[in-house]
Amino acid sequence: MEPLIQRYNDDKGVWDSCAEIYEEKVVRGHPDIALMEDFEENLLDALLRHIADRTDRPIKLFDLGCGSGRLHIRYGAKTTSVRELPDDHPISELKKHKPELEYDPVLDDGLKEVEGVDFSQKMIDLAEAKVDEYCIDETSDVEFTLKQGSAFEADYDGRECLPVAVCLINSIGVMQGEAGAVRLFEAMRNVTEDAGGVALISCYRKRYFPYYGLGQYESTLTVSGQPVWLVPDTYAGEEYVLESHTYKRAYSEDDTVLAEVYTAGGDKVEDEFVLRRDPEAVAAAVRTGRIRTHAGYNSRWYDVEQIREWIEALWTGGRYHIKSKDVDAVRAEPGQLAVMDSGGLCKGLFERWGVTRVFN
Ligand SMILES: C[S@@+](CC[C@H](N)C(=O)[O-])C[C@H]1O[C@@H](n2cnc3c(N)ncnc32)[C@H](O)[C@@H]1O
Repeated sequence: MEPLIQRYNDDKGVWDSCAEIYEEKVVRGHPDIALMEDFEENLLDALLRHIADRTDRPIKLFDLGCGSGRLHIRYGAKTTSVRELPDDHPISELKKHKPELEYDPVLDDGLKEVEGVDFSQKMIDLAEAKVDEYCIDETSDVEFTLKQGSAFEADYDGRECLPVAVCLINSIGVMQGEAGAVRLFEAMRNVTEDAGGVALISCYRKRYFPYYGLGQYESTLTVSGQPVWLVPDTYAGEEYVLESHTYKRAYSEDDTVLAEVYTAGGDKVEDEFVLRRDPEAVAAAVRTGRIRTHAGYNSRWYDVEQIREWIEALWTGGRYHIKSKDVDAVRAEPGQLAVMDSGGLCKGLFERWGVTRVFN
């Protein structure tokens, strides 16, 4: 079997099995990840509003590797006015303490469709359940679609809509290594270029892995399994579940992890199991930006040089490569953004933010 296909099938199984716990522990879970998600969503709001103000064409948002559909819920809420809805409607309830989900007439007017694609049927099921729970299909005029499938096959043939394709929160890092990343860049170009749209990839930077990455994976052992740099591996097999006591924040110098250990059936085996970093294995992960766990989970934190090379080789038109900290150092220090702006629609916004284009 072709290695990429093999890898795709293996990863699909891993994501199917961790989908539910990923939703519980990672999406809005780890504080540093929540900050990055906030940054991405605020950035995307600004980008969509900017574009909506400058085109008469309806916008179609493609979310590649959409997971449990956080953008569906966000834009469902933001394009729903609760004025006509009962106070106890799920959307009214959702918005009560979330000013960021306030009705946005510019987006309501500009957005036509939000399409999510994910290879994990379990993720798509979770996203569909949330769309149903909040009834956004009924309250918003925007069309919300979800497809189980490969991000690499994404395409848009039409001309009616202005396509905006995004791939967020380091999803490129879990898309089957470098061969998969190349396929993602190509797919995003296919979706957006001919129709003058915008492609945006938000991912982490390898140099920040020691400060953000190690602690993040050590804090979410239940999701992706025990990282290979932690020892001992006494409970690293499928028959146990490890749950770390705390979320380790960025720049923590603590090289141990305290975890509860359960059997797969839910019986507690240990209350304070101590895991330690193995310096050599940590050094290998830091050097390569490759994350591996005993559960077969694989991820990459690519360095800026690698992302830049792909932007240059695989994208065209107005291209930007942005260190996310240059836009927001508090929330997005470890990130980088790759943008392909085929129709020149982002230019004014980026100029306002002091972001310079890197390629012509
Ligand atoms: C890090 S999660 C991010 C989920 C979502 N974008 C979010 O921000 O909450 C990455 C997602 O990519 C999906 N994925 C990985 N490889 C994929 C591929 N080749 N095609 C489609 N989805 C993929 C996984 O199933 C997972 O839901």
